This record gives sequence, structure tokens and C-alpha cells, in this order.
Amino acid sequence: MEEFFGSKKYKTANAKVSESCPSNIALIKYWGKYENQIPANPSISYTLSQCKTNTEIEFLADEKFSVQTFLSSTEEKKFAEKIEKYFKNIEAFLPWILKGKYIIRTENTFPHSSGIASSASGFGAIAKCLMEVDDLFCGKAEEDFKLKKASFLARLGSGSACRSLYNGLVVWGETKEVEASSDLFAVAFPSKDIHSIFKNFNDWVLLIHEGEKSVSSTVGHGLMTTNPYAERRFQEAHENFSTLKEILKVGDLKRFIQLVEHEALTLHAMMMMSEPAFILMKTGTLAVINKIWDFRKETDLPLFFTLDAGANVHLLFPRNKDEDKIKEFIIKELLQHTQNNGVVKDVMRF
Ligand code: PMV
Repeated sequence: MEEFFGSKKYKTANAKVSESCPSNIALIKYWGKYENQIPANPSISYTLSQCKTNTEIEFLADEKFSVQTFLSSTEEKKFAEKIEKYFKNIEAFLPWILKGKYIIRTENTFPHSSGIASSASGFGAIAKCLMEVDDLFCGKAEEDFKLKKASFLARLGSGSACRSLYNGLVVWGETKEVEASSDLFAVAFPSKDIHSIFKNFNDWVLLIHEGEKSVSSTVGHGLMTTNPYAERRFQEAHENFSTLKEILKVGDLKRFIQLVEHEALTLHAMMMMSEPAFILMKTGTLAVINKIWDFRKETDLPLFFTLDAGANVHLLFPRNKDEDKIKEFIIKELLQHTQNNGVVKDVMRF
């Protein structure tokens, strides 16, 4: 299958391309992987609208291979080293990639220190740019193929990035529940199988803790190899997929809430059961979760949460007649648990 994305004849020239890619938030989480970024279980995410990375790549042909990166106009040497390594790693799929110098300018639409994963939108945008350059050097490819290969390349940069190439609900990892699903790239979950209630959702990200995480995702994924609960977790993710598929079809919001929160807590439970154990939630994370549960009990309104590998809380709620009451509650009761009144208001992109 990987040969499908393999090398072609090419002719390089100076080039400049720019692309934009949104971030995504997983509902069924990817946590644990095998060699070459193969996920240990299938995952599914919502693609966001506002949290995006905009990237411009300038390619100078005939110059020695090197990478220079600027994040919001500031040179970032560490990021350049990471990208150099990544480019060397994908040469089998883009044979021209080491034949020039790169100047990469990138900016995120969300605050840099927010703790919102920029690797998904970041590698998504780079992979899209690379496919544009590939078109210039190898001849125009079909849009479907370009998207699939961009997802394949993004995965090799950061696993979850491969899901950011598509809108709506996006699946990565082979599962019998989704036709054409693959460990190598993501596919869009069929829109016809999603009830309308799940197509119009808010995601407000509460910035509980801004700044670096104490344990990176790379280390976290690695610790799943010795986690005694890992195999059961991978199996459960498969089971949750078939449950979620049914929920999405029939529009069962109550079971959706239950499943999504369970997935988020399972992710963090896995961290706590790792050896060495680690905890990325903060006091504010737990306070918010408890307040959400109390709010639901009192009002029966559909406000719920998911978490990524950090302390921030993604507040999910449908865009409908109830949303104003929910927003009011968030501002009045939950915002106080953030570090600097930080909230990023986003919606799902369909
Ligand atoms: O793509 P990575 O290596 O940053 O891992 C992301 C893992 C989670 O965000 C916790 C879950 C997911 O599926 O996105």
C-alpha cells in the first residue's frame, strides 16, 4: 500500500506555496502506537474551524538541503531541526524533498502558549504545502489522491495530524465499522450516517493551563507499550467505535455524551496507570468536570467535555436553542478556573 504513495519523475524549480489547516479534537482517542506511526487503535475526531495553522513554504532549488522556520516572524531553530528530520524521513514518498533549501513561515490563529495542540494543524498545513510543491515538480495529481497523500504524509509528522485534512468527523485507523478506513491515512466518516444533531456543534476550549506540558505525547504513547491495561484499552476503542457508529446514526445525544466523556477519562486513566505514572489534569480541570456534571444534573442541558493530552477542557454543546443558557453558565461558572480568563470559541467544521 505504501508504494501507492511512492516516487515519480520530477523537475525542481524555485517555488512558493501557502496552505492553511485546522486543528481537530478526538472523540475516540488514539493513545499508543507501533513503529512508523501505526496507531494501536482506531480514532475519530471533529475538525475545528477557528483553530488553524497558516503556513508558507519557500523552496530554493539548487541550494543545499536546509530548513529555516519562523513562527509568527520569530525564528525557531528547534522546530527547524524537527522538520529537517521529518523531511529526511519522507524522502521515499517525495523524492525531490532533499534537493533544496526551505524557508517556512508559519502562524497559528490560536494563542501560542495555549496548550492547544498545534502539531495537528501544523503538520497538516506542511503536508498540504508539500503536495502543492509536488504538483509543480511532478505534474498535477488528482485532488482525491493529493488529499489522501497529504493525510499520509501528515501522519508521519504527528499521528493525529492526518485527521485534520478532512472536514466533519474523521476516522484514522483500520476498523471494520468504517469502509476504507486505514492505519496509513485518515478518511472522512460518511456524512449520510451522521444525524443532523451532530453536525452543528460548539467546541469552547477552556485554557486551564497555558504553557508546556510536563510529559509530551510522544513519551505518553511510548508508555502504553508497558501499560498493563493497554490491550484492554485498544480493544475497548474498537468496541466504542461500533457503539458510536450506531449513536451517530440514530442521533442519541445522551449516549454520545456518556461515550465521549468516558473516552476522555480513559485517556487520562491510562496516563495514571503508566509506569512511571503521570497526571496532566490540573485542579481546574477537575473543578470544571464536576461543575459540568452538577449542571447537567440540575438542568438536563447537553453540555459535556472531552480532554486532549493536557489540562485544557474542550466544552462540547450543540448549536441550538439551549446554547445561550449554556454559554452563560460557562462564562459565569467555568471561566474562573482558567489561568487568564482564557477560552477559545470554536465550532466544528462540516
Ligand atoms: O498526534 P499526537 O502524537 O500528538 O497524539 C495525540 C493524542 C491525543 O490528542 C491525546 C488523542 C488523539 O487522538 O488526538
